[in-house]
Amino acid sequence: MTILVTGGTGRLGRHAVDALRARGHEPRILSRRPGADHIVADLGTGEGLAAALDGVDTVLHLATTRSKDIGQTRMLLDAMAGTGAHLVFISIVGVDRAPYAYYRDKVASEEAIAASGVPHTIIRVTQFHGFVSEFLDAQRRLPVTVVVPATVQTIHMPEVAARLAELVDARPAGRVADLGGPELLTLREHAVQWQQAHGIRRPIWSLRLPGRFARAAREGGLTSGLPGGGRVTFREYLAEELGNRATNGA
Ligand SMILES: NC(=O)c1ccc[n+]([C@@H]2O[C@H](COP(=O)([O-])OP(=O)(O)OC[C@H]3O[C@@H](n4cnc5c(N)ncnc54)[C@H](OP(=O)(O)O)[C@@H]3O)[C@@H](O)[C@H]2O)c1
Repeated sequence: MTILVTGGTGRLGRHAVDALRARGHEPRILSRRPGADHIVADLGTGEGLAAALDGVDTVLHLATTRSKDIGQTRMLLDAMAGTGAHLVFISIVGVDRAPYAYYRDKVASEEAIAASGVPHTIIRVTQFHGFVSEFLDAQRRLPVTVVVPATVQTIHMPEVAARLAELVDARPAGRVADLGGPELLTLREHAVQWQQAHGIRRPIWSLRLPGRFARAAREGGLTSGLPGGGRVTFREYLAEELGNRATNGA
C-alpha cells in the first residue's frame, strides 16, 4: 500500500511516520522542503500535488497552518477526486463547541471531506501533552506561571500516531470515536506537575478570559470524557521528555 502523509515533518507527523514504519509501511512524506523520503509539494498552491498523489492508496492528512486549513483540505480533496484513495483526517475534540477561527476551519474541513465523495475516516483528538508543555516551557523564565481556567484531557502523541496508523490500515469508516488522554486535569494542575518535574516553584496565576471559547474550555468542552483511550499521563510524559532532553544534553 502506498501512503502519503501530509504534515509528516510536523510534531505529530514525525510520530505518525514512525508508527506507519513500525507497521511495515514506507510512507511518502509531503513537505514544502526536500528531505529523506520527502516528496516536495505545497498544499497552499497545489504545486507538486498531482505527482505526490501518483499511485497513492491512502493519504494521512495532518498538515496545518492553523489559519488556512480549509483551503489546503479543499486543494487536497480536489486532487484526490476520482482516485479512489482513502483520506484519513485528524480533527480536534470540541471544534464544534468552542468558537475559534482555527476550530471553525476544522469543522469546515470535516464537512468538506464528508461531502466530497472521497472515501474517508475522520478522528477528533484532544490536545497533545506536548502542546501544553510547550505553552508552559515558553514561560520558563517568567517569575510567575500564567494559565487560564480550563479543563483539558491531554494525550501522548505516539498514542495518537498509533491510532492513526491503525486507521490508515483499516477501511474508510467516516467519523470514528474521539480519542482523548487518560485524565481530566485543569491547566493549573498541569502547571503544578510541570513545575514539579522541572524542580521549580512559582506562583501560578489563573487569568479568567471573557468569551465563548474561554467558557467552553472552562466547562470541559475540549474534552472527550473518560476513559479517553490514551494511557500515558502528563506526569509520565514530562518524566520521559526530561529524560530525553538529559540524554541529548539539551
Ligand atoms: N496541537 C494539538 O494539541 C492538536 C490536537 C489535536 C489535533 N491536532 C492536529 O494535529 C495535526 C498536526 O499538528 P502539529 O502540531 O503536529 O503540526 P505542526 O507541527 O505545526 O506541523 C505542521 C505541518 O504542516 C505542514 N504544512 C503546513 N503548510 C503546508 C503547505 N502549504 N503544504 C504542505 N505542508 C504544509 C508542515 O510541513 P512542511 O513545513 O514540512 O512543509 C508541517 O509538517 C494538525 O492537523 C492539528 O490540527 C493538534
